[in-house]
Amino acid sequence: MDTMVGLKRTHSCGELNRENVGQEVTLCGWVSRRRDHGGLIFIDLRDRSGYVQVVFSPEVSEQAFKSAENVRTEYVLAIRGKVQHRAPETVNPNMSTGSIEVFGAELRLLNSAKTPPFYIQDNVDVDETVRLKYRYLDLRRPEMQRNLILRHKVTKFMRDFFDKQGFVEIETPMLTKSTPEGARDYLVPSRVNPGKFYALPQSPQIFKQILMVAGMEKYFQIVRCFRDEDLRADRQPEFTQLDIEMSFIDREDVLCIMENMVAGLFKEAIGADVITPFLRLTYQEAMDRFGSDKPDLRFGMELVDLSDAVRGSDFKVFETVLQQGGQVKAINVKGYANAPRRELDGLVQFVATYGAKGLAWLSYGEEGIKSPILKFFSEQHIQAISKTMQAEKDDLVLIVADQANVVAAALGQLRLEMAKRLNLVDPNKLSFLWVIDFPMFEYDEDEKRWVAMHHMFTSPRDEDVQYLESDPGRVKAKAYDMVLNGTEIGGGSIRIYQRDLQEKVFKAIGFSSEEAIQKFGFLLEAFEFGTPPHGGIAFGLDRLVMIMAQRNSIRDVIAFPKTQSATDMMSQAPSEVTVHQLRELSIKTSIINKQKME
Ligand code: AMO
Ligand code: AMP
Repeated sequence: MDTMVGLKRTHSCGELNRENVGQEVTLCGWVSRRRDHGGLIFIDLRDRSGYVQVVFSPEVSEQAFKSAENVRTEYVLAIRGKVQHRAPETVNPNMSTGSIEVFGAELRLLNSAKTPPFYIQDNVDVDETVRLKYRYLDLRRPEMQRNLILRHKVTKFMRDFFDKQGFVEIETPMLTKSTPEGARDYLVPSRVNPGKFYALPQSPQIFKQILMVAGMEKYFQIVRCFRDEDLRADRQPEFTQLDIEMSFIDREDVLCIMENMVAGLFKEAIGADVITPFLRLTYQEAMDRFGSDKPDLRFGMELVDLSDAVRGSDFKVFETVLQQGGQVKAINVKGYANAPRRELDGLVQFVATYGAKGLAWLSYGEEGIKSPILKFFSEQHIQAISKTMQAEKDDLVLIVADQANVVAAALGQLRLEMAKRLNLVDPNKLSFLWVIDFPMFEYDEDEKRWVAMHHMFTSPRDEDVQYLESDPGRVKAKAYDMVLNGTEIGGGSIRIYQRDLQEKVFKAIGFSSEEAIQKFGFLLEAFEFGTPPHGGIAFGLDRLVMIMAQRNSIRDVIAFPKTQSATDMMSQAPSEVTVHQLRELSIKTSIINKQKME
């Protein structure tokens, strides 16, 4: 192997341009492609900045030409040569350096490489498990490098922004106390305290509130959080939050500063104009109109209440649902009257997965209205339905009758599905909104008790405190979520800062005083030492960058993500440990491992 002595990198491949013509440059990088045209060898050399074409000819250097003959894809090279204009007919408009090339005078092989398991190129169809196993090769792809560089720009902007606004970045512990509620904890056994466990933080929630008690006033942190929950495209077991907390503020302060941050960020990082202030919807309005607390507002197709329009018909299903306090709601899929019958049958299956017992449809085709339930309705009923739905020729109306939560889930998802199928979503649109006035609690049918909808440190609205005991379902919280294109990118609240109110909320979710003291005694005690009113928010950094990079999975913006089953394909974590390690931790597992590594 040659050494680099005397060949010091002077330029980056992707940054060369016409202004470099005539200069001698030294480049370092990987062989992306090599073409042998007999008398000439072409190498596309790649580094983080991009590609450039290098030409080797025996007329320029016999020795370099010979070395180039032995080079293969992904070999690591240092090349010295002169930048030249390309002949007009060989200019490559698809390459940012396509109007120039480098005539190779010297080639040093810095390292060879095995043939990679997939092409290091964007848009190649490779199984994601292979990409994750060879993540270091996957990350060589320009798109992945762009994503990670974008992520860097985003965090840098955030740090600068909050620094300018007087926030202090403070680290909080990773080894913390396991607390009830929320997702499942990741636990870490303590060797020196046998039988005891730390939990990795699901968020720094309590610590940031304690920092407010501590008088830090404005805190932020870009922080890793851990949640042992079912994984999806936008959920990882470890993910990153931009975490914020402020004292002496109200909701408007939080919403305003976050809007300004986001607007500045999108301009700086991707050149996008974000208009502030954002639209606000109450939780109830979002559920009523979109069947979701994170509505995608890039298209219409809102849920419309047909209860009044269909009341009094011969259709038993609707009548029964209405009598039982349910609703009949629908969406109008414009221009889709000629949906194939098979697709309509499939949609029934689709809504069934969200609990709907059926899906009725009316299609407004060439030959008038068609529907399997037409016979149950009078002319007036049909007119009322058409009017309420603003249905015109060519439209397809899809109806679900059920209790409000099922209607919202089924029609909310159906709305998203139809928009996807009919390509109604403009991928370049950015649709921000705040969802506010969340209910304080939701009822957990399994546990038969109320649980906090955001978290139990969230303040109820002042006017609702009186119902904490008598009617918890009626209490609204001072909580807010920021939603972008149908994804919840951030959530927060104004907090409780008085011990007695906090105790009332603990009680409402079924904590006994002993339990509350055992789990959160330190927080309750802190509240008695002069706690300022405070509030904050946390953003899902991975989700934010995913949307900015126009990706569908947060795995594409995380350098080393985990699979759906929470494993790291590259390092093979989690893995078994030795009996010796377990013994030191006073742990016995019920699974007999192949513990031969002792
Ligand atoms: P919350 O639980 O709403 O609030 O989390 C804040 C934001 O974090 C992101 N997020 C996730 N991203 C990727 N993978 C996950 N598993 C995951 N879980 C959550 C979401 C979400 O909006 N301490 C409170 C914040 C506060 O009240 O200030 C909290 O953690 O984008
Ligand atoms: P049935 O008479 O039960 O076969 O239903 C007639 C039509 O009404 C079918 O297209 C069903 O999918 C639809 N349907 C049944 N239950 C519901 C419901 N809860 N909401 C909306 N449509 C329904």
